[in-house]
Amino acid sequence: AAATRYEAENGTISQGVVESNHAGFTGTGFVNFDNVAGSSVEWTVNGPGTVTLAFRYANGTSADRPMSITAGATATTLSFPGTGSWTTWRTVTVRAELAAGTNAVRAAATTADGGPNLDSLSV
Ligand code: GCU
Ligand code: CA
Repeated sequence: AAATRYEAENGTISQGVVESNHAGFTGTGFVNFDNVAGSSVEWTVNGPGTVTLAFRYANGTSADRPMSITAGATATTLSFPGTGSWTTWRTVTVRAELAAGTNAVRAAATTADGGPNLDSLSV
């Protein structure tokens, strides 16, 4: 089936703001996480199923901005390496096992740098 895109700016944002000052995003903007560990965004995704979570992001620094990903029964850490500039957007993916019904899919920064700028989640 075609992927469903969940814009980051439509998620539940903790310690981050919606911005649109770096071109190339979809929707109305992207989430600029505060540069602190624990900054996060969360969406509600329907299961069940084994799915690919695809996160579109930009990281204009040379340092990885890893995030903790929790989705249904899945909990893992995903790398968001530098993309070269804040207007260069790339996608990283992880497989997840979703339960029947609604599942919280959450991405939370694990380091004091915070998360990358996050454009969307596609499932
Ligand atoms: C810059 C950039 C932001 C980014 C931030 C960061 O300020 O303009 O979009 O979020 O760096 O390092 O997190
Ligand atoms: Ca930031």
